[in-house]
Amino acid sequence: MYGLVNQAVEDFVRRGFGDAAWQRIREGAGLSHEMFVSMDGYPDEVTYKLVGAASEVLNLDAAQILESFGEHWVLYTAQEGYGEMLSMFGASLEEFLGNLDNMHSHVGLTFPDLRPPSFQLERVDGGRGLLLHYRSERMGLAPMVIGLLKGLGRRFDENVVVRQTAHRGLDDHDVFRIDRIGPVAAGASPQQ
Ligand code: HEM
Repeated sequence: MYGLVNQAVEDFVRRGFGDAAWQRIREGAGLSHEMFVSMDGYPDEVTYKLVGAASEVLNLDAAQILESFGEHWVLYTAQEGYGEMLSMFGASLEEFLGNLDNMHSHVGLTFPDLRPPSFQLERVDGGRGLLLHYRSERMGLAPMVIGLLKGLGRRFDENVVVRQTAHRGLDDHDVFRIDRIGPVAAGASPQQ
């Protein structure tokens, strides 16, 4: 994956757990790079090893790490100059989720070797619920999608409950149900 993803993992660890934790994770993952270059491509294995080492050093499930990382990704990309791109593809959570493939196609203009996931949005229960179908050539990243959806809920000021309703392996692909339960309460932590 592009270095941007690994940089975001580094930022997530340093902010949440400190620089010393990052050094231990970097060593645990056996990384020789001192730093990641956002536009360089790295084997997917690098990202998976980082998550594995983070799980050991921080004593957290890999799934928990991926979920928190997904939430962080929404903030991180906005901070790293992709906020406008996030804004371009929807003024509401629903509109944005319907445009995820268009958004990644647009990202592909900057990152030409991008191998993006694919998402398809379905409205259910008269629009009260949303189903997001997720397909990827990579394995094991479903928890990250849960975090991404929570982070996007916050970005769009919508309180969301997210559940995974189908699992690749058991089912054909991963599906997430999103229920919007109103705006984020006043006084809640400010969004980016
Ligand atoms: C403007 C913001 C964004 C940028 C710049 C961006 C860019 C990227 C990049 C560079 C990758 C690595 C893929 C590769 O290197 O081949 C990636 C992967 C991914 N992106 Fe995005 N992305 C953005 C927003 C989002 C959002 C909002 C979602 C929400 C669903 C999302 C879902 C994912 C997932 C799940 C992956 C993991 C790869 C996989 O599933 O195969 N991204 N994205």
